[in-house]
Amino acid sequence: MSTAKLSFTDTGEGRPVLLVHGYPLDRTMWSTQIADLTRDHRVLAPDLRGFGDSPLGEADAAKGVSMSEYADDLAAMLDQAGVKGPVVFCGFSMGGYVAWQFYAKHREKLAALVLCDTRAAADTDDARAKRLETAQQVNEHGSGWIAEQMIPKLFSEVTRRERPEVVESIADVIRRTSPDAIAAALRGMAHRPDSTPLLAKLDLPTLVIVGDEDAISTRTEMTQMSQSIPGAELVVVNNAGHMTPNENPPAVTTALREFLEKIQT
Ligand code: MLT
Repeated sequence: MSTAKLSFTDTGEGRPVLLVHGYPLDRTMWSTQIADLTRDHRVLAPDLRGFGDSPLGEADAAKGVSMSEYADDLAAMLDQAGVKGPVVFCGFSMGGYVAWQFYAKHREKLAALVLCDTRAAADTDDARAKRLETAQQVNEHGSGWIAEQMIPKLFSEVTRRERPEVVESIADVIRRTSPDAIAAALRGMAHRPDSTPLLAKLDLPTLVIVGDEDAISTRTEMTQMSQSIPGAELVVVNNAGHMTPNENPPAVTTALREFLEKIQT
């Protein structure tokens, strides 16, 4: 199976930190964290296959891109960038689903994990059916239709009320994303395996971050997830729904920094 050549940001020097965006977004969701961490880390932030500036293969929309294929793309990208040391893999939501596959297939490339507003469980039968239906409809209805469906689920009430520009900038990213890339990711997520059995086996420093009002990967579910990972640390971010890196950027950046400092020693 061939990998896609990803477009990515590669900036700064030091311990490599890989920031992996969620669905249906791109690397721009990490702009605050990139600007901060690049002062003393090498930060790599890719656009996953089909998102942002990365191309989608011809057959990908119809067959879907599996979380395992996204993970292989990232491993190839790290080789292409000449990244020698293991990376701190920070995966947001779908980026976290990719992290489980990256761990399973490319463990030697990992120094630590950050799991941000994500889940270990697979979709329920209902959720899977709904995703596959949406994948069939997205070409007809367009990316703006996906943005309309997703925005209410992505943000806390306080962000929607007080920072509409944050909401609008994420909505813009979704509107710009190609319906084919959206369909491909939906199919890949629908068929992703249950990664819950992996949790107790994780043998890396792990940080779990969740927005206190996350409606997609809830605080309760992420707390349980962190309790299942040996030695994992949990940070709950206030005034944030699902989009913690954008809704409360300083809290997420501080959590990342404190974790990176801790695992340095
Ligand atoms: C994401 O933010 O990546 C998605 O909401 C994940 C999902 O739909 O399960």
